[in-house]
Amino acid sequence: MLAECIESSISLAKAARDGLYFSGQVLSITPTTQEQVEILKNVSTQYETGLWQPVSPHNIKELKQVHLYLPGNSSETVKNLLQRHNIAHEVMLPNADEIIEMQMRNDSGDPRSGSTFYYRYHTLEDIYDWINRTANDYPDKVKAILVGSSYEKRPLYALKLSLNNRPNKKAMWIDCGIHAREWISPAFCLFFVHYSLSFYNVNTEMTQILDNMDFYVLPVMNPDGYKYTWTNRRMWRKNRSPQKGTSCIGVDLNRNFDANWCTTGASSNPCDETYCGSFPESEPESQAVANFLRSHKESIQIYLSIHSYSQMLIIPYSCSMDEAENHSELYEMVKTAADEIRRYYRNTYTYGAGAHIIYLAPGGSDDWAYNLGIKYSFTFELQDRGRYGFLLPPSHIQGACNEALLAVKTIVLKVMEKPQASMGSRQAGPAA
Ligand code: ARG
Ligand code: ZN
Repeated sequence: MLAECIESSISLAKAARDGLYFSGQVLSITPTTQEQVEILKNVSTQYETGLWQPVSPHNIKELKQVHLYLPGNSSETVKNLLQRHNIAHEVMLPNADEIIEMQMRNDSGDPRSGSTFYYRYHTLEDIYDWINRTANDYPDKVKAILVGSSYEKRPLYALKLSLNNRPNKKAMWIDCGIHAREWISPAFCLFFVHYSLSFYNVNTEMTQILDNMDFYVLPVMNPDGYKYTWTNRRMWRKNRSPQKGTSCIGVDLNRNFDANWCTTGASSNPCDETYCGSFPESEPESQAVANFLRSHKESIQIYLSIHSYSQMLIIPYSCSMDEAENHSELYEMVKTAADEIRRYYRNTYTYGAGAHIIYLAPGGSDDWAYNLGIKYSFTFELQDRGRYGFLLPPSHIQGACNEALLAVKTIVLKVMEKPQASMGSRQAGPAA
């Protein structure tokens, strides 16, 4: 499809500016009646649109804002249809093509061109190069670990950061890019590794953290999907595995873990964005991460998965309405982190148990890791709250990453205070 193709979307942005072509747009629509809800459900499934919010048409409800991306070739048709049914809409982003163009710009350049590298988005190939370079440049601090491969046989590398040789250190796992279109997520993983390597022995908190804890960072958990968002369809979410008996492609990797797998909040239809797969861990990407966590669960004490958008710090459970056993401890951590972000960056993050603050979403990695025994398990939804959504301009990467970093630091320091968290060669503190 012409409008789906990135190459052409670059020239399309110009054509749209010159009035020769309709740009892709993002609309905000709030249905006020059940009838309007049904029409919106139809629109989002029948036309070639990208539903941004909610994640699936089933979750469209009266008086709840819907964010809908319309590619240039269907924007006028869909807007006319909405008008005919008296469904009010607001254009959130009139010039989506232009922002897509901006997100893909100056990716090539010199990869060593200083810190601006971390404030741009990168192609999958550039991220693989960066992984290689980072492991080579810091041979005694960074190791690239092959944890598995994707459906299309791309390697899944996690970087292990271990900044000193203390024995028996605890560790934190961070994965980025489960969902392909959430570009700020891999950008955060790269930024985080860079920050850790640059600010060890410079920033007091980071030094304290890295003295006591190793990090495993998986920059792109869904490389096939990520690649696809650069080359074919910017709004792709799932992985790229073909499914039996249908031409629909891909599984939602964050519905594929064994935590109340495929119950309410996931879909068993391969054509849906929240398709749970044919069985738990059916996908090589989720299986790779699950295997790694299973085999390192004694040392990994904190699990974190990075998503976007909506500015949330999420704790278990998302797969049921149950309260996690250490809910108040986790709640206190995300509350403190959100308070810090507000204080330093004047930005609002909501926080709490997933099923309560968003929706039931079973099969997620965070709940699965939690049930495995990793009692400090989190999902962050980074910037923004919908203005740009998945099309967050490069100029916002720095702010988004700094906020998430502050939340990570706050939470890790709190975990390190816990008496059971005996780090490295240090003795466990007294049970307080
Ligand atoms: N937006 C994320 C998703 O829908 C939220 C993840 C929260 N955790 C979860 N286990 N669902 O996948
Ligand atoms: Zn996501």
